[in-house]
Amino acid sequence: MSELNAALEHSTYNYKVVRQFAIMTVVWGIVGMLVGVLIAAQLAFPILNFDLPWTSFGRLRPLHTNAVIFAFGGSALFATSYYVVQRTTQVRLISDKLAAFTFWGWQAVIVLAAVTLPLGMTSSKEYAELEWPIDLLIAVVWVSYAIVFFGTIAKRKVSHIYVANWFFGGFILTVAVLHIINSAAIPVGLTKSYSAYSGTVDAMVQWWYGHNAVGFFLTAGFLGM
Ligand code: HEM
Repeated sequence: MSELNAALEHSTYNYKVVRQFAIMTVVWGIVGMLVGVLIAAQLAFPILNFDLPWTSFGRLRPLHTNAVIFAFGGSALFATSYYVVQRTTQVRLISDKLAAFTFWGWQAVIVLAAVTLPLGMTSSKEYAELEWPIDLLIAVVWVSYAIVFFGTIAKRKVSHIYVANWFFGGFILTVAVLHIINSAAIPVGLTKSYSAYSGTVDAMVQWWYGHNAVGFFLTAGFLGM
């Protein structure tokens, strides 16, 4: 009987994308924290910068923060929100294809970050260092995530919306607004752009983003979890 229940559950819900994100949470957790150990060691033993630009603290620190926050933390948030929204609404994600796109799109963003940050391609905005083509990909993946998540809630079989979904929903909406506004930039080449905001305004927009990224990415989403 329990086997039958398990089989029914698997055909009812999309567990594949949940499992994929869960596995990558572990992988990126290990990678991101290893880079953390390396940059921590560099602070004590500067020789570990290897006298190369690509392995210097200044380039690897944003690699660490992006890897632990967006690759490790982000994959965990995708995995748990997709699991929770299905189980508490009692319906399958509205689109397996769009959910798969969010998985592969998010992994592509992470790989692009791991390549471009050590190469020194950066907008220099903390926690928003990635250059404009990657920012565009993030925006498309994030809007797709919102469609999958809110579309599933709209189709729910229970009238009540379980509390975790309000946290996940708030996190998804807020991060979309923060990312899209703070990343507005004027490209001058494929790997270089200038912020759309000038001087003090740029500083204020950046830290409105930075502070709320902690508040909503690292807090509201995790409270949902
Ligand atoms: C093995 C575990 C870790 C080690 C050894 C480590 C090490 C470091 C080091 C050396 C810095 C740079 C500090 C500086 O610039 O003075 C840093 C910054 C940072 N790390 Fe980690 N880290 C680890 C895990 C994590 C995790 C799990 C997260 C979050 C999910 C995280 C988030 C951050 C953030 C947000 C910063 C920038 C804030 C700051 O500099 O105070 N780290 N980490």
